[in-house]
Amino acid sequence: MATKSVLLIIGGGIAAYKSLELIRECAKRGIRTRAILTRAGAEFVTPLSVGSLTGEKCYTDLFDLTDEAEMGHIELSRAADLVVVAPATADLLSKPANGVAGDLASTALLATDKPVLFAPAMNVRMWAHPGVQRNVATLKEDGALFVGPNEGDMACGEYGAGRMAEPSEIADAVEAYFAASSDGRLKGRHVVVTAGPTHEPLDPVRYIANRSSGKQGYAIAAALAKLGARVTLVSGPTELPAPAGVDTVRVQTAREMMEATMSALPADAAICCAAVADYRPEIETNQKIKKERGGLSSIPLTENPDILRSISSLDVGRPGLVIGFAAETDDVLCNAEAKRKRKGCDWIIANDVSSGTGTMGGENNSVTVISEAGQESWENMPKARVADRLAAYIADALSKRAT
Ligand SMILES: Cc1cc2nc3c(=O)[nH]c(=O)nc-3n(C[C@H](O)[C@H](O)[C@H](O)COP(=O)(O)O)c2cc1C
Repeated sequence: MATKSVLLIIGGGIAAYKSLELIRECAKRGIRTRAILTRAGAEFVTPLSVGSLTGEKCYTDLFDLTDEAEMGHIELSRAADLVVVAPATADLLSKPANGVAGDLASTALLATDKPVLFAPAMNVRMWAHPGVQRNVATLKEDGALFVGPNEGDMACGEYGAGRMAEPSEIADAVEAYFAASSDGRLKGRHVVVTAGPTHEPLDPVRYIANRSSGKQGYAIAAALAKLGARVTLVSGPTELPAPAGVDTVRVQTAREMMEATMSALPADAAICCAAVADYRPEIETNQKIKKERGGLSSIPLTENPDILRSISSLDVGRPGLVIGFAAETDDVLCNAEAKRKRKGCDWIIANDVSSGTGTMGGENNSVTVISEAGQESWENMPKARVADRLAAYIADALSKRAT
């Protein structure tokens, strides 16, 4: 495979120091980096460090005549296979979102004909600001890719979302993009995947949950992205990092998952892998339920919305392929086939979660794919392999439907 190259734009945030590590991470993976350092970025790292690590001139100024003679700003913006902005400051996000080109970095972002991957980094309140979120939504609509930000301790002493993704995660996202663009069987397709458990609150400290780890759904999302699909992963609470190159929406409850999944449509396929709670407590109190005040002898429950059935029965905008998962402990195949019919989905992936198989939370899975055409049982294998095989089946099914 020919060497891939990245144009790295380094903005003016504390996380700029991590971009030096990113250059090394890319080099380790055989990816060449050329860099633009913004004026604010140069307050944090020097052009000399950046240039020494990339092994190339570090570009800083739009009006540097030598730069224009060597390589014009338009050519610079198009010579790489992918543009990466890390750290993507609030300022750097706002410019392409609003068509502004005030310096070399923002001009390159408007002039490029290549996809742009943003790794945002900013204070938690800045990241939550509606103006920043509007810009992020606009950029996503325009086709930009995002990695992070992560949640964690921040340089400013606060805690929350806004920390730049680690250099290895950004390099993973770059690699995932290159892998996807070289296969591309699902290029131009949008797939929505749900994963993980839901948490159904009872009071501010208690909730009803289940043992789903989200590993299978996350692996499926990653496998689909590798084949070039644009993937929206709607995830319940999990410990897992967002898969590279996947638009991940995090939710807590079944109702939030329903809303996020429906808002992610239209899609070519929907894969409902999440273990959505069938029921939630009828009443959620704002205060902790106290033992002394009578506590709880029973919890009245009410039914949650059924995401799989709702998507399957859409009259308008039903994805061409709707896939559900059935975690069963007994009479697995019979129960799963009954579920397929009841829900109106196209395929059900049945998995045996009876004790001993270690499916829930484990690394492996034993599944049977059930469709109108029949059943196919796969040997026990790592969840990542189940995901790769399923993604290939989905690509095949969608290509047949298109012809
Ligand atoms: C010490 C310091 C740290 C900063 N960190 C960030 C940051 O992490 N994210 C951000 O969006 N802006 C941050 N800023 C503000 C940006 O530097 C400022 O908005 C600048 O104009 C961004 O320029 P750029 O478009 O070249 O990134 C910081 C400023 C200072 C002085």
